[in-house]
Amino acid sequence: MSIDYKKEIERLKKELDVTVVAHYYQRDEVFEMGDIVGDSLELARKSKDAESEWIVFCGVGFMGQSVKVIAPEKRVLMPKIACCAMARMIDSTYFDDSVAYMEERGIPKEAILPITYINSSAEVKAKVGEMGGLVCTSSNAFRIIEKGLESGKKILFVPDRCLGQNFANSMGLKSCVIGVEVDGKACDSLEADIICFNGFCSVHQYFTMDDIDFYRERYPDILIAVHPECDPKIVEAADFSGSTSQLIKYITDLEPEQKVAVGTEYNLVNRLRPKNTFVLSSTKPECPTMNETTLEDLYLVLKSIEDANPINEVTVDEDVAKYAKLALDRMLALK
Ligand code: 13P
Ligand code: SF4
Repeated sequence: MSIDYKKEIERLKKELDVTVVAHYYQRDEVFEMGDIVGDSLELARKSKDAESEWIVFCGVGFMGQSVKVIAPEKRVLMPKIACCAMARMIDSTYFDDSVAYMEERGIPKEAILPITYINSSAEVKAKVGEMGGLVCTSSNAFRIIEKGLESGKKILFVPDRCLGQNFANSMGLKSCVIGVEVDGKACDSLEADIICFNGFCSVHQYFTMDDIDFYRERYPDILIAVHPECDPKIVEAADFSGSTSQLIKYITDLEPEQKVAVGTEYNLVNRLRPKNTFVLSSTKPECPTMNETTLEDLYLVLKSIEDANPINEVTVDEDVAKYAKLALDRMLALK
């Protein structure tokens, strides 16, 4: 007899001391099971404050890891420990190489303040924490960079070059990307305010100027709203750029007849607003790793708690957790 996953998940949620957490990019049927839903910042804050012993996190690896780091007393399980493609682009060696790059170009280590996007491993967050740096998300990057600049140090921003460049542009700051030449000139640590690592989100690179031109030609009054992980050209050409929760607010506050084309993950865009909302790409912009989690995976993880044989538990090395927590707590301390 086949299992009714939805019914079983609902039963297990009632019977166990568990909170199911789901990011907006999850498949609809998984998202609907979330006791807590949100973007990466909201989920980190709310999971930390959840009263249950068990957190079952439906998202990507760095999200569950961040909860384990900021709330080590919790048992964090993930239906799939799927790694965000951007987070995989940097490890602690690449981080050290980036610091060395700046040192070789005249910036001593003490004069560098690293900021890591939350889409990074605990090891990278630990490196950042050890150097006095902080974590940011796309919701609070402006505030965190502003805070970072108060130190008077140069900012090393990892791993998302687009987020780093987009916030530098919106703050009137100079930025460059390590390893990328512009007009024959390499990234100059002395001249730039923000030095970015060359990582990116492959999903948010789907959106092109051709897509924007297509929608503007077809519907002259349409608005274009995008996530700041998109290329700076796209953000500059858009009417609005914001994190997942900021995009949701912007779009749901629009008049019902206002057309909008949205440049972010498909699952979110698809459930936002039934009419007059378009996906800003001819290719379906699905995040492969967010989509790995199925209802069956969620059921199996909950069942493993019931059977007292938990699977896919998130663990973080004690030393790594200590320094990663510094970087995460510095972010959480800022309102
Ligand atoms: P948010 O911080 O907006 O939730 O984004 C997380 C993410 O991975 C976007 O691609
Ligand atoms: Fe990572 Fe991009 Fe997926 Fe977000 S959409 S989780 S940045 S791969």
